[in-house]
Amino acid sequence: MPNIPAAKIVIPESDRREILARIDESLRTGALTLGPLTKQFEQDFAALTGSRYAIAVNSGTSALEIPLRVLGVEGREVIVPSNTFFATPAAVLHAGGRVRFADVDPRTFALSLETVRRAVTPQTAGVVLVHIGGLVSPETPAIAAFCREKGLFLLEDAAHAHGSTLGQKSAGTFGVAASFSFYPTKVMTSGEGGMIVTDDERIYREALQYRDQGKEGFTTNFHVRLGYNWRLSELHAAVGVSQLKRLPEFLTDRRRAADEYTSRLRGLKGLTPVLPAAGSLSNFYKYIVRLEPGIDRARLKKTMKETSGVSLSGEVYEIPCHRQPVFASYATGPLPGADEACGRHICLPVYAGMTTAEVDQVVRALSSALKAERTPSCA
Ligand SMILES: Cc1ncc(COP(=O)(O)O)c(C=O)c1O
Repeated sequence: MPNIPAAKIVIPESDRREILARIDESLRTGALTLGPLTKQFEQDFAALTGSRYAIAVNSGTSALEIPLRVLGVEGREVIVPSNTFFATPAAVLHAGGRVRFADVDPRTFALSLETVRRAVTPQTAGVVLVHIGGLVSPETPAIAAFCREKGLFLLEDAAHAHGSTLGQKSAGTFGVAASFSFYPTKVMTSGEGGMIVTDDERIYREALQYRDQGKEGFTTNFHVRLGYNWRLSELHAAVGVSQLKRLPEFLTDRRRAADEYTSRLRGLKGLTPVLPAAGSLSNFYKYIVRLEPGIDRARLKKTMKETSGVSLSGEVYEIPCHRQPVFASYATGPLPGADEACGRHICLPVYAGMTTAEVDQVVRALSSALKAERTPSCA
């Protein structure tokens, strides 16, 4: 029985050759940063999301911090779901803001209109909505409308959501700006890297300055903002351009594997898959399965690995941010939805090129591990 990895990074040989040829050309010409490959990556990514502008940066984390700086969060509160990666609240703090953790609906893993409403205070500057696992919550348009009505910004942390949609709209186009990550485990990668998308010309122009040490323009040394070196190198852009071309194929593969999981898991007791809402397409960065109370997640994962060679990835996320020591001073009260979402789910392996036989092996492993969970031990 072959081992099933938690995730796989797919860069086919023909793509590797093409990437190396592009890198060779960069080395030959000396255009090593903010050059033609970065421009192409930006244009192609803007086209993917249907955004007017895209700004390539060196990480998903800087793709969050830059728009937060442009939007001016200094001394103000930003609402962030607690079940997110460290970088979401950390970017708010680095941009000079204060984090207000909000609860989520454990059925969607996302902020709801109600949890946003409850978290708003007179100090609120805006909301960061995170599309966990590539799922775009059906409440996203209502949250966007609420933010517009209240004069709050909505920033989407779409680090997980390349190619996800709700209705006819791409993830990343519901708020004033959005950030994407190209970290290696993501649906597409550039090695390291990130992208900001926006339709707002001011955000675009200022983001270009923040990305490059706050310089007024690329060729000047006149610094108008407290920027940083958030540039993406041409070598990373070469990988990004290639991976973006593969994205439609990656999405087809992931969605097929996800559909196979969904039909095979239907009869299994003890779990509920978290699926995109009607009219929404996930990129299935993660295939999230909620577990019934009482199932020991760590033991379940160990059983699957030891008896069937199936590795499950880390959760999204295991510990909510309001329980992380570094954010202790921002914990304002109980967040039962985030605790439930974080405490009771697993992520099944999904990757481009995953075969039906591999899906079957995962489902068999999960089914027998769940049975073992329900069988009282003799000890
Ligand atoms: C939800 C979320 N936001 C932001 C980031 C930060 O992206 P990066 O690792 O590219 O800085 C990640 C990365 O894993 C993420 O999962």
